[in-house]
Amino acid sequence: MKKVYIETYGCQMNEHDSERMLAILSDNGYVQTDKPKEAEVVIVNTCSVRAKAEQKAYSSIGRYTGLKKGKPGSEKDRVVVFSGCVAQQEGKKLLGRFKGLNIVVGPSQVHRIDELVNKAKTDGTVIAVAPDKDQERFRNPVKGVHGVKAFVTIMEGCDNFCSYCTVPYLRGREVSRHARNIIDEVYALVASGVKEVVLLGQNVNSYRDNSEGRQITLYELLSALNDIKGLERIRFITSHPKDLTDELVHAFTDFQKVCPHLHLPIQSGSDRILKLMARGYTVKEYRDRIDRIRALMPDIALTSDFIVGFPSETGEDHRDTIQFIRRANYDNIFSFKYSDRRLARASTYDGKVPVQVIAGRLKELQDAQLEITRKIYGALTGTLQQVLVEGESKKQGRQQGRTAHGRIVNFSGTVPEGTVANVLIDDYSDNALYGKHITEEE
Ligand code: 5AD
Ligand code: SF4
Repeated sequence: MKKVYIETYGCQMNEHDSERMLAILSDNGYVQTDKPKEAEVVIVNTCSVRAKAEQKAYSSIGRYTGLKKGKPGSEKDRVVVFSGCVAQQEGKKLLGRFKGLNIVVGPSQVHRIDELVNKAKTDGTVIAVAPDKDQERFRNPVKGVHGVKAFVTIMEGCDNFCSYCTVPYLRGREVSRHARNIIDEVYALVASGVKEVVLLGQNVNSYRDNSEGRQITLYELLSALNDIKGLERIRFITSHPKDLTDELVHAFTDFQKVCPHLHLPIQSGSDRILKLMARGYTVKEYRDRIDRIRALMPDIALTSDFIVGFPSETGEDHRDTIQFIRRANYDNIFSFKYSDRRLARASTYDGKVPVQVIAGRLKELQDAQLEITRKIYGALTGTLQQVLVEGESKKQGRQQGRTAHGRIVNFSGTVPEGTVANVLIDDYSDNALYGKHITEEE
């Protein structure tokens, strides 16, 4: 049996690209292994958003191409693939740097992985980093094993050019996938047992499909998906505060399957920094927006991203961010140390913040959020939550799932995957709720 090993870094988009590559290769007779030494095809799907992820990708590729050196037989025949955003960024150079590397493939060409592997077997090396504007880039065989939840790409690329970000350079300009293909894919997923879909794109709010003679927005797409029988939950990531329309906000109340959770990255609580980041909104505009959302849907769960230590960030900017966090009442946040990226404009900005200062600020920010998360989770103890069961939790004997708000719940019970369980919450940690399954009779 032919085997494929894959290692993935970065965002959900990358995770999904890995799933697609695996599905395509499984159509060609490959099975997945977690042992790189056993695999005929080894893929490292890389991320370039922060320097650390990029470094990890290089050391992995170094290791896997190293495995081939001077070894007889199958080791030499192994096809090593460098995919994703770092592949796009570095291109052909990678072949010079890593002897034994066979394929360099950018994010918009991963759907060609089968063809590229075959080509590498005859030609030795292949480069596929030309941007693919075509709808082809969204091709997904919807095969393989799906759990309760599946990702579905609805758009790719980004036109925003935030000054710290490499995405627009590597994933290219925004391209929306045709609504018809998205709906067909969701039907196929639901037929294979999927209950929840997560619609993916760098900037899903600017989704626009004009292929059917009229403009289909994300709101309309959600409306169509909401009608699919057997589908229970719909989420979408990532939203951009400047493109979040009032129409879209109403999707939360108009469509019963759209989950009451919104990931809306603000990045900083200082107007001066937001301007330097080229985010296109002020703190007040963002605040007004979330106030309006909460007026419509008071218990919606909000989450956000923050970058700490952007060039020239002062102690005062940082305090503004902390103050903002205290007011915003996020369920959770993702916070990152600013990472200098050569492709992004901010790498030329003055006032780089020393690493120790960044580390201290990151800790303060995370501590501020932790207090809030604990308060929100604490208030949920004693409540009954509807949990869509995803499977076993890491700790033996427990099951795991999520509430519609996106909160992870671990509980004792024996509920079939894909069903909704009533769970009485009796405890919480910093990132999950704990409870007990309540049956009808109780
Ligand atoms: N440095 C640190 N964090 C970054 N992000 C994007 N680019 C950078 C960078 N250069 C973060 C942003 C974004 C998330 C996906 O990654 O917060 O929302
Ligand atoms: Fe990067 Fe900004 Fe686009 Fe998000 S919106 S992908 S941070 S450029």
